[in-house]
Amino acid sequence: MNTVTSHHDSIHEARGAKSIMHASNISHAFDYTLFENVDINIHQKETIAVLGVSGSGKSTLLHILATLLKPQHGEVIYDKGFMYEQGDKKLLDIRRHDIGIIFQSHYLFKGFTVKENLEISSMISGNSIDMDLIKKLKIEDTLHQNVSELSGGQQQRVSIARVLLKKPKLIFADEPTGNLDRQTANEVMDVMLEFVELNNAGLFIVTHDEKVASRCNSAYRLQDKRLLPVRL
Ligand SMILES: Nc1ncnc2c1ncn2[C@@H]1O[C@H](COP(=O)(O)OP(=O)(O)O)[C@@H](O)[C@H]1O
Ligand SMILES: [Mg+2]
Repeated sequence: MNTVTSHHDSIHEARGAKSIMHASNISHAFDYTLFENVDINIHQKETIAVLGVSGSGKSTLLHILATLLKPQHGEVIYDKGFMYEQGDKKLLDIRRHDIGIIFQSHYLFKGFTVKENLEISSMISGNSIDMDLIKKLKIEDTLHQNVSELSGGQQQRVSIARVLLKKPKLIFADEPTGNLDRQTANEVMDVMLEFVELNNAGLFIVTHDEKVASRCNSAYRLQDKRLLPVRL
């Protein structure tokens, strides 16, 4: 069985960190089998990176963990329940309140200002806009600009702010630093890693960037339909 038991599991367990999500024996195919018998355990304060060539199934795996796609085989256990065996309403609830998803391309409401985009998120979650977070992401001067006037990097930082304002228990980020320069990528990682630490959250990040991956507790490569641990 292609089970991956990260040595970091034991580190997080030894620290008494609770498991937030456990995916076991996950397999999925579209035109071809993407991966088989993948096992992932995400603990509080744990950060996991997944590398892999384009088409290897990284986004598909992220979607499966993030409530968006039921796997063809295997189970995702969240909050003591089988995630995809709960009703649509409960799944939507988990997605809305507990899961923060940062996509490759940012889904901001074009034609609205940065502040309005953030207000939509704070309205849905009931959390107020955290100005510290806005400052850390260096978007405090953009609040009254229309999002379509911003650079790609600025838009990505707004979409990260929008997700973190929800205070999710798990962050799923799909190549979040792909269109950022090195320094901005590092700053965005700083913000996400600090969020995870302060909020007892977990982070699962798909990236092409080994420097980004090396800042996580563990890194894997999706290759030959398996999740192989890599040392960076
Ligand atoms: N909804 C879908 N329907 C059919 N094929 C899909 C779907 N999503 C992804 N695929 C295919 O699965 C493969 C892996 O895609 P993806 O998970 O996006 O890989 P990666 O993120 O590693 O580039 C690709 O060949 C892609 O075309
Ligand atoms: Mg992808």
